[in-house]
Amino acid sequence: MTLMPAREPSTRSVAGGASYILLHNTSEVVTPDAAGEKILRFPKGAVVFQEGKVVEVGPAAELDARHRNARPVNANGHLVTPGLVDCHTHMVFAGHRAEEFHRRLKGESYEAIAASGGGILTTVRATSAAREAVLEKTLAQRLERWRASGCTTVEVKSGYGLTPTAEMRLLEIMRAAAQRVPARIHRTALLLHALPESFKDRRERLIEEHATKTLPEVRRRELASAVDVFCDDMGFSVSECRRLLEHARELGFAIKLHADQLTRNGGARLAAEIGAISADHLESATEEDWKGLAKAGVVGVLLPAAALTLGLPLPQAAMLRAVGARVAIATDFNPGTSPAQSLVECGALAARVCGFDAEETLLAMTWNAARALGVEREVGHLNPGAAGDAVVWECETMEELPYWLPAVRPDCVFVRGADLALPTVERRVWP
Ligand code: NIG
Ligand code: FE
Repeated sequence: MTLMPAREPSTRSVAGGASYILLHNTSEVVTPDAAGEKILRFPKGAVVFQEGKVVEVGPAAELDARHRNARPVNANGHLVTPGLVDCHTHMVFAGHRAEEFHRRLKGESYEAIAASGGGILTTVRATSAAREAVLEKTLAQRLERWRASGCTTVEVKSGYGLTPTAEMRLLEIMRAAAQRVPARIHRTALLLHALPESFKDRRERLIEEHATKTLPEVRRRELASAVDVFCDDMGFSVSECRRLLEHARELGFAIKLHADQLTRNGGARLAAEIGAISADHLESATEEDWKGLAKAGVVGVLLPAAALTLGLPLPQAAMLRAVGARVAIATDFNPGTSPAQSLVECGALAARVCGFDAEETLLAMTWNAARALGVEREVGHLNPGAAGDAVVWECETMEELPYWLPAVRPDCVFVRGADLALPTVERRVWP
């Protein structure tokens, strides 16, 4: 069964799908190759977009001559990369948890705050109290902020609804918000995140309802293409997650897991066993776990801002290279563990903490992240046939991307070969 097509970018505002553009006068064009194995660098390179797709990438001297009829766009001597892919966010929520953040800095644990009725449940209550129109507009503004920082593909998870009805509400809001922005939005139903108050002492019942009611309904209404779970001692057990995910897989959803974050409870092993598309977090995973993921072809998604916020360790690049892991980096944007609003900054943190070089960092935010969403043929690189999603950065070399803090900003962002205006005013993005 094929995945649902719940993810075409809005074309309403992406005019010029039929345009023919030569992006040239770059310092360099840098892209993963089509197999995501290595980084290709084209000094003073150019890219040609036609009908919203890349038709050619290479030295500008050659492309300038071959594409005289294309509309030239001047990159002003700056770096060009593929549009970035943020493959893990929880962007649909109301309120924030700065107060809990400070309680944690004073020594309270994430687990203890959650056990006392705070944590995820705090955000669930705030989100439930917010009007749909406000949640939708806030989410659209956040997606615009992501586009303005170079992300042309963004995954958004539900997960602050918890009950079947509340999760469907968030998924509908996600679909509506995605229509308002010219970027590619992937919707994931995060169905086992925390136990809702209304299902207290009825865990079995929640899983049953999600498996037999929520999943088929999400499928019927084409609300998500992937299903996620929080597989952890403070979330849901391996057997609870397996039960839901097997149903999801039968219905044709891609599978993702929050795995081995706070505790090593077998999430990574389950991801490998069940054929997940990605296993995310992995702060408590071992080298053995990473070997299993590599063998099963599961992308390991690192979320450095969440690890730093919770004081958890991140794996070292040398070990990841040795086991042949395929690694993505994402923001995990959420109000509890990762109030991080820039993917490039997360890449810069991972480079420092894990020891990734510039090529690995770029691969982790492009091709590998696209692979974590199952769309690596289309996005995450600039080879012929790929989507015309690209960024001209305010710097000159790939090495500068993980170097500057705060992160470098885009000069302009192409989606489907169209260079659309970016939001000029950074508005407050929470209700
Ligand atoms: O990815 N740990 C599970 N879920 C989120 C955090 C949710 C929250 O604290 O609001 C995460 O870290
Ligand atoms: Fe997460």
